[in-house]
Amino acid sequence: MPGRRNRSGGEVMTVARNREETAGAEAGRPAFDVASVRAQFPALSLEVYGKPLVYLDSAASAQKPSAVLDAEMRCYREFYANVHRGVHYLSIAATAAYEGARSKVQALLNAPSARDIVFVRGTTEGINLVASTYGRQHVRQDDEVLVTTMEHHSNIVPWQMLCEATGGVLRVVPIDDDGALIMDEFFALLSDRTKIVAVGHVSNALGTINPVGSIVDAAHSYGAKVLIDGAQAVPHMAVDVQALDCDFYTFSGHKAFGPTGIGALYGKGELLRSMPPYEGGGEMISSVTFEKTEFREPPARFEAGTPNIAGAIALGAVVDFLDDLGYEAIGAHEEDLLSYATAMLEAVPGLTLVGTAERKAGVLSFLIDGVHAHDVGTIVDREGVAIRVGHHCAQPVMDRFGIAATARASLALYNTREDIDRLVEALGKVKEVFG
Ligand code: ALA
Repeated sequence: MPGRRNRSGGEVMTVARNREETAGAEAGRPAFDVASVRAQFPALSLEVYGKPLVYLDSAASAQKPSAVLDAEMRCYREFYANVHRGVHYLSIAATAAYEGARSKVQALLNAPSARDIVFVRGTTEGINLVASTYGRQHVRQDDEVLVTTMEHHSNIVPWQMLCEATGGVLRVVPIDDDGALIMDEFFALLSDRTKIVAVGHVSNALGTINPVGSIVDAAHSYGAKVLIDGAQAVPHMAVDVQALDCDFYTFSGHKAFGPTGIGALYGKGELLRSMPPYEGGGEMISSVTFEKTEFREPPARFEAGTPNIAGAIALGAVVDFLDDLGYEAIGAHEEDLLSYATAMLEAVPGLTLVGTAERKAGVLSFLIDGVHAHDVGTIVDREGVAIRVGHHCAQPVMDRFGIAATARASLALYNTREDIDRLVEALGKVKEVFG
């Protein structure tokens, strides 16, 4: 997988110095041609309200390329059966494709072994799995779990539930006015009581890219384990769990151009092997009697019941899709787009960006003076522009900035400068309506 990261940041989004460099930046690869990328996404040629769709809501859920849609459908049409259970042809074929997808996800994250990859429904399940297993095993009365102000609810609530059940204490690393983590406060909060640090790689509400490499190093020096919520990172940047040395990393397929209902959790092998099961059921056992059940080794131990077979196979197709484009080219394209969008939005009268950290991915949260975010979203929608409004499942972020909601445009590899122009034009209508 190209575009691997360095150790210190652990969050390299390789940046081309200028637009031209984006073309053919990676040796042996065709240039990043956004028009041909867009042509692979059927939804991007939709019209809404008689206008060509501009999709700027990929942080909520991304659109899917034909190769991914076809992979899921091909599984159902050509080699569908339950996995790991059959001796017949179709089951063997489905199992091979399902396990092949696991190996692809292993390569995507540069995990040491495919056995370190657990298929889950998505990031939320990945985090709940770790909180309910590793967390229950290791967090005791007065032990601490560290999260940050900018976490998505899915990286807060499971830890809060864990602390309520165990007597643990949830501690929160604050953020500054730009939406960057206050690292000194993080270092000050770390102690021998810290058992788990749970942090988002990229904030869904602010776009901040967190210095996860430094966070892992510091947490490990106190013996704490680190879970990284990679939901907003994997669609945009190369992730290397070995370089990061994180203990757990989880992401969702649907934000990375894959189907809903599938995602992956990486865990270090020795940790996964030491953890109790999450759910009980078929396939996660090696033997069952009414007296005692023996559990299988990971990842099977954590995949009770029939999994999302076709979804996992389609997630494998996502890996191929990203690999073909290359993260280096994706990152350069998105970096250009983010700079352009930031400048264009800053020039809109009465608009304030929320989330202006130095290291950001393509998320533009904003407020417009005197206009509720929901009105902004509704008006631009009628112009064919899809954005998200609300608290973005990150209410503590809204509280931090003393606001109830933002409008949020979020970028992906298929967006263009023209999409940003259409958004700005649509924001002109907001001005017309509200004066
Ligand atoms: N977490 C998703 C978002 O940011 C739903 O919109």
